[in-house]
Amino acid sequence: MAHESQSAARLSIDESEIELPIIAGREGPKVIDVGKLASQGYFTYDPGFVSTASCNSEITYVDGDSGVLLHRGYPIEQLAEHSDYLELCYLLLKGELPNAAERAEFDWEIKHHTMVDEKLRTFIQGFRRDAHPMAVMCGIVGALSAFYHDSLDINSEEDRLRTAMRLIAKMPTLAAMSYKYPLGQPFIYPRNELGFAENFLHMMFATPCEDYEVNPVIARAMDRILLLHADHEQNASTSTVRMAGSTGANPYACVAAGIAALWGPAHGGANEAVLNMLDEIGDERNIDKFVAKAKDRDDPFRLMGFGHRVYKSYDPRAKVMQQTCHEVLNELGAQDNPTLRMAQRLEKIALEDSYFVEKRLYPNVDFYSGIILKAIGIPVELFTVIFATGRTPGWIAHWNEMIGGGYRLGRPRQLYQGHQRRDFVPLEQRQPSESIGR
Ligand code: SDX
Repeated sequence: MAHESQSAARLSIDESEIELPIIAGREGPKVIDVGKLASQGYFTYDPGFVSTASCNSEITYVDGDSGVLLHRGYPIEQLAEHSDYLELCYLLLKGELPNAAERAEFDWEIKHHTMVDEKLRTFIQGFRRDAHPMAVMCGIVGALSAFYHDSLDINSEEDRLRTAMRLIAKMPTLAAMSYKYPLGQPFIYPRNELGFAENFLHMMFATPCEDYEVNPVIARAMDRILLLHADHEQNASTSTVRMAGSTGANPYACVAAGIAALWGPAHGGANEAVLNMLDEIGDERNIDKFVAKAKDRDDPFRLMGFGHRVYKSYDPRAKVMQQTCHEVLNELGAQDNPTLRMAQRLEKIALEDSYFVEKRLYPNVDFYSGIILKAIGIPVELFTVIFATGRTPGWIAHWNEMIGGGYRLGRPRQLYQGHQRRDFVPLEQRQPSESIGR
């Protein structure tokens, strides 16, 4: 993707002035190209990359102030209402919505990649039964690179798209295996006559002993949950996939790195943390105490599912997720769900509290998803596995865009605060280390 600079920023340092090109994207803030600063003896400094654009991309656009999320230009609200997860996977990967023939071919391709190598059924036995499913997913997705290491030319668009299909197709199968394994239940094979989300739920909850019918309302809700998690521009896990991919690493290993990054409670692990937090609050009478803890700078407690690095308004996905939550609870006759009631009360209190208003902290995608997943019967430890399954097309679409679009090895620099040069001290001349200042 070439880009023309349209004007320049002038940085005056001491006696010299450095001219830095300013480049406009199709949407969003312009960027200042600081690439030549190193040759002038300077680095930029931006821990957490709050003000840093790491790459060019055409896939997803987020406007945090207005609560806008576009996938290839299409608003998430319209995709959630009119599209489905597999169609969004196609859109993220190929850039356009498929016509009927393209959609049918894509569906067929995905269905015929849903099985995993039988050796993975023994591979997973190497984990303790009580291993966290995200630990299993890090290992088992990374292990896929051992199965496709040699049949993958990352410079071949055909090989890259086959890899994308394999990962999108196999993640639900692996996720269901990570659920069945601790239960000691047999793994259920994918069924090609079922829809994508229906097949996932069937692999999760069916047993060989009897037929299992997936509730279509629940299947639609799961499809929408996966759709809402599909991509979110340069979030921490996608940036991890891009960083790993910039070394030319095997894409299955890159996605495994993304799964590891997603696991943290500040990122994809927040959905599990929300339910644990609501359980810890226990009763609506305790909400004020926990909101006070969240506001206390000396208390590490944070309101999980609230706040976002980019959204300084309501996360548009959270609104769709809340609506899906009501649909599922109504279908299950669990409208009077105490956890949902607690979450809604917590949201109301937080949104009226000046601390959250001033810091522009709103519910994010993780705030309501866990309530739906729990109501469906999915254990809390599997929530981030569901997020990872949903996010797979985003990860692999960004990897594909980077590898196919010309890229450089990612290698940030640092602000060095360590010792200046000093000579080695022979053992017999050393002082006790704690007596030596930094
Ligand atoms: C996801 O990046 C993405 O796109 C991610 C994601 C995706 O789809 O990939 O959208 C998915 O990860 C959503 C976020 C899930 N995480 C959580 O819900 C965890 C709780 N949220 C926080 O940890 C926090 O809001 C972050 C990590 C999400 C964002 O943190 P930032 O941008 O680094 O902001 P910050 O920590 O500097 O907070 C700014 C201020 C701080 O107070 P001050 O130091 O200015 O006094 O807001 C406070 C924070 O203490 N704050 C919170 C808070 N979140 C921020 N205070 C209480 N509760 C919170 N949840």
